[in-house]
Amino acid sequence: MSSAPGPGLFVAFEGGDGAGKSTQVELLAGWLRDQGREVVVTRQPGGTALGQQLRDLVLHGGHMSPRAEALIFAADKAQHVAEVIAPALARGAVVITDRYTDSSVAYQGAGRDLGHAEVHDLQMWAVGDLMPDVTVVVDITAEEGRRRRDEVHDRMESEDDGFHEAVRSHFLAMARGAPARYLVVDGTAAPEQIHGAILDGLASRGVLA
Ligand code: TYD
Repeated sequence: MSSAPGPGLFVAFEGGDGAGKSTQVELLAGWLRDQGREVVVTRQPGGTALGQQLRDLVLHGGHMSPRAEALIFAADKAQHVAEVIAPALARGAVVITDRYTDSSVAYQGAGRDLGHAEVHDLQMWAVGDLMPDVTVVVDITAEEGRRRRDEVHDRMESEDDGFHEAVRSHFLAMARGAPARYLVVDGTAAPEQIHGAILDGLASRGVLA
């Protein structure tokens, strides 16, 4: 199942904590706006009013079971698709999201060990099977991610390198499994260089036409 209700373009950015996704999201959004496209930039968890509450709960709340955690991330995505992503795609906008369903498959499925197939099914149910046209994975090692985070900000960041390496490996495995839908870029390159690689990759997949 792929993509957009309507004529829009849906791009997701994924990667470990500290990979530099947000910078790349902004650079790509700016480039597309310069081309005259309407661009909606959003992030998960937290792209809606309900999502902000869920974000506080899941990233800054107390202990919770891995399944409760997975369900909160799924609820955030369900709301996000219904309220922000689907309407924007339907009117022809480009939607760029900082994280999407693959984050849950990697963090809850592989990192928390809930099983990636189960978490994938839960996520697909939550988003009504809406998949990005392309997913950009900004890749860095767990060690590099830790080095870049000056301090621990939330429950996920406080996990050890083993957790973050499992997350990273799973992002890379998903990309290997569907190379036409994924673009992996080296997160240790200079931001402008990464941006260039992303534009090249998107152009070669025919999604910038
Ligand atoms: P955030 O502050 O948005 O940071 P980042 O800049 O790394 O995206 O943190 C979101 C955290 O939540 C991040 O550690 C990844 C995690 N996460 C999940 O575990 N599952 C999910 O489904 C999503 C969307 C995020």
